[in-house]
Amino acid sequence: MSRVALVTGGSRGIGAAISIALKGAGYRVAATYAGNEERAQAFTEVTGIPAYQWDVSDYAACASGIARVEAEIGPIEILVNNAGITRDAMFHKMTPEQWSSVIDTNLTGLFNMTHPVWCGMRDRNFGRVINISSINAQKGQMGQVNYSASKAGDLGFTKALAQEGAAKGITVNAICPGYIGTEMVRAIPEKVLTERIIPQIPVGRLGEPEEIARCVLFLASDDASFITGSTLSANGGQFFV
Ligand code: CAA
Repeated sequence: MSRVALVTGGSRGIGAAISIALKGAGYRVAATYAGNEERAQAFTEVTGIPAYQWDVSDYAACASGIARVEAEIGPIEILVNNAGITRDAMFHKMTPEQWSSVIDTNLTGLFNMTHPVWCGMRDRNFGRVINISSINAQKGQMGQVNYSASKAGDLGFTKALAQEGAAKGITVNAICPGYIGTEMVRAIPEKVLTERIIPQIPVGRLGEPEEIARCVLFLASDDASFITGSTLSANGGQFFV
């Protein structure tokens, strides 16, 4: 029987590419989405991948949603923590709500999603947790104090949890995408994107969601069993750690 993978935020953007790539590689895949039901239904119709709605910033919703996925599809062996939001603003204009919504989703969401699957992974002596962080965790980004802090937190989470999972056959890794051509990036003011950001990318273009999906496929595979606690950067040469 093929392995079960759950991708948060898996019906749009990078997450959709990840869901589709995992299905193409033979995994049984489920996706979560936060609120865009119309897009999620269209995604399921086209791909055949079931999409479940819950908010990753809500622990109880994650626990019950995961229980439902496991009852309907099977124990989750691969968890891709991809769901993330931006609420960009210069720090002097940033509101407490913009701070806490980003931290709650992008950082606390990793706890909320990983904690309910962790004991099962330990019991089965196998697991893959793949956290989608960001180049802006590594280099910081003006206008994104909240987002950069949350995504840097994801890297600490990854490195600490990797040490706990190692003896139980569970790997925990992070991917740091650079600027990828998704709705999130296209929401950046056009002038900022073309004049400030793209010129900073040595390959001269935004990345494709599928380029991140291929990183996930590798980290999910048995070939990657010796890789844990690592950060895989895919950013077109924009930043070297
Ligand atoms: N890189 C370089 N310069 C930037 C910048 C960026 N990413 N974002 C803003 N600036 C510059 C602007 O060009 C502007 O410079 P000038 O005054 O010299 O023209 C200055 O900062 C102030 O910007 P705004 O005039 O736009 O100020 P604002 O208060 O109206 O808006 C903002 C500020 C909301 C941060 C807006 O500029 C913005 O959305 N910037 C993009 C921030 C960003 O890079 N977000 C990444 C989103 S994609 C993502 O997060 C995915 C991922 O993981 C990579």
